[in-house]
Amino acid sequence: MQNHMDQPRPDQGGAQAGSFSVQWDHRLITTRDALAPGNDILSSLLPTDKGPSRMIACLDQGLVEAHPELPAQVELWADANAHLVRLMGKVATLPGGEDAKNDFNVFNETARLIDAHGICRKSFVLVAGGGAFLDAVGYAASSAHRGVRVIRMPSTTLSQGDAGVGVKNGINAFGKKNFLGSFSPPWAVVNDTNLLSSLSDRDWRSGLSEAVKVALLKDAAFFDELRRLAARTRTRDLDAMEGIVERSAHLHMKHIIEGGDAFERFTARPLDFGHWSAHKLEQMSGFDLKHGEAVAIGLLIDLTYAAMIGRLDESVLKSTRCCLLDMGFTLQHEALGNHEVLLEGLREFREHLGGQLTITLVEEIGKPLDVHEIDLNVMRRAIDDVRSVGLNESSRVG
Ligand SMILES: NC(=O)c1ccc[n+]([C@@H]2O[C@H](COP(=O)([O-])OP(=O)(O)OC[C@H]3O[C@@H](n4cnc5c(N)ncnc54)[C@H](O)[C@@H]3O)[C@@H](O)[C@H]2O)c1
Ligand SMILES: [Zn+2]
Repeated sequence: MQNHMDQPRPDQGGAQAGSFSVQWDHRLITTRDALAPGNDILSSLLPTDKGPSRMIACLDQGLVEAHPELPAQVELWADANAHLVRLMGKVATLPGGEDAKNDFNVFNETARLIDAHGICRKSFVLVAGGGAFLDAVGYAASSAHRGVRVIRMPSTTLSQGDAGVGVKNGINAFGKKNFLGSFSPPWAVVNDTNLLSSLSDRDWRSGLSEAVKVALLKDAAFFDELRRLAARTRTRDLDAMEGIVERSAHLHMKHIIEGGDAFERFTARPLDFGHWSAHKLEQMSGFDLKHGEAVAIGLLIDLTYAAMIGRLDESVLKSTRCCLLDMGFTLQHEALGNHEVLLEGLREFREHLGGQLTITLVEEIGKPLDVHEIDLNVMRRAIDDVRSVGLNESSRVG
C-alpha cells in the first residue's frame, strides 16, 4: 500500500497533505441452487472466528413471486448454519424493478430494518433481486453506519452479468438516473443461474445488451460468440445464457479490479459506452424501456455516430445490429423522435462526470475510443438513422 504523509515545512504554514489507498476484496461465485441443503457456498463466505454473524435478508418481490419458496429457503439455510449466522426477524420482501429506485421506500425500509435488528458494520445484509433492487438496498446498506457488509444474490441476466458485480449503488432523483448513490463493493456476489429461468422474456433478454457492450469494448472473440449464440438465447437456452452471463461478469469485474479507476475518479467511463442516451431514453419513456433495452439502442446510436465521423467501419455497426436483432431486441422507441430532449442526456452526462465530457466509442471491436467533443448535428443524424432503420425493421416484422 502506498500511503504516505509529508512532514509540514515551516515555510508551508500549517498545511499538511498525504495520500492513502484502501484495499478491497471482490468475490464472485457462480452456482446453481445456492440455498439448497448441501450447497455450502453462501456459508463459506461468512467469518468463522467470532460466533454467528447477524444478518437481515431483503428479497425482490418480483423474484419472490416467481420463486415463492425463497424466503423459507433462506430461513432453512440460516437454521442449518446457526453456528455462522443469526437471521434477524423475518425475511423481508420489498418492491423490486425500477420503482425500487424511483422513491425512498426501499431505501428507508432497508435502513429501518438495519436499525431495528441491530445490524452493525460486522453484520450482513443478504440481498437478492434485480439490478434496481440491488442498487436501492445496497445504497441504504452503504449509508447505514457508513457501510454494512452486503452479500448480493443477483437474480436477472443484467444483474448477474453487470450490475451485481459492480461497486456502485444508487437511486434515481430529480428526474435523473442514479443521481443519489455510493461506491461500495459488496462483501461477495453469488450468481445463482437457476434463478434466471423464471424471468420474463424482456428481462431475460435485457442483460444481453450489456454483454454486447463489454464485448465490443474488450473482447472480439466474445463478440463472435455472442453472434453465434444470439438465436439460442432467443429460445431461452439456459446453458447458452449461463456462459454469456459468466463471461460478461468476468469482463466487468476484471475492468473494476484491473482498470485502475474502480471508483470512477477520472472522466473516462468505458463501461458507460452507450449509456448517456440509454439513461435519458429510460427516463423519457417513463421507464417503459428497461435499462438493457435502452442500452441496446444507446449502443447503436454511438456506433452510428462513430461510423458517421469516419472512425468505425460500418460492418461493425451492421453486425452489432444483426446480433441485437437476433437476440430479439426492438431497436427503436418513439422517444428517439425527440432529439433535443435526448441530447440533454449529453449535458447531464458531462455534469455527472464533473465538467469535461468523455464519451467512449469504439473504433474496432475490442478497441475503445474516447472522444471529448460531440458534433451535435452529426449526433442528430445518428439518432435519426437509428430511428428510421428501426422503424423500417418493425414495419417489416409487423
Ligand atoms: N450499479 C450498477 O453498477 C449498475 C449497472 C448496470 C445497471 N444498473 C441498474 O440495474 C437496473 C436494471 O436491472 P435489471 O435489468 O436487473 O432489472 P430490474 O432490477 O428492474 O428487474 C426486472 C424485473 O425482474 C423482476 N425479477 C428479478 N429477478 C427475477 C427472477 N429471477 N424471476 C422473475 N422476475 C425477477 C424484478 O422484480 C423486476 O420486476 C437499472 O436500474 C440500472 O440502472 C446498475
Ligand atoms: Zn448499464
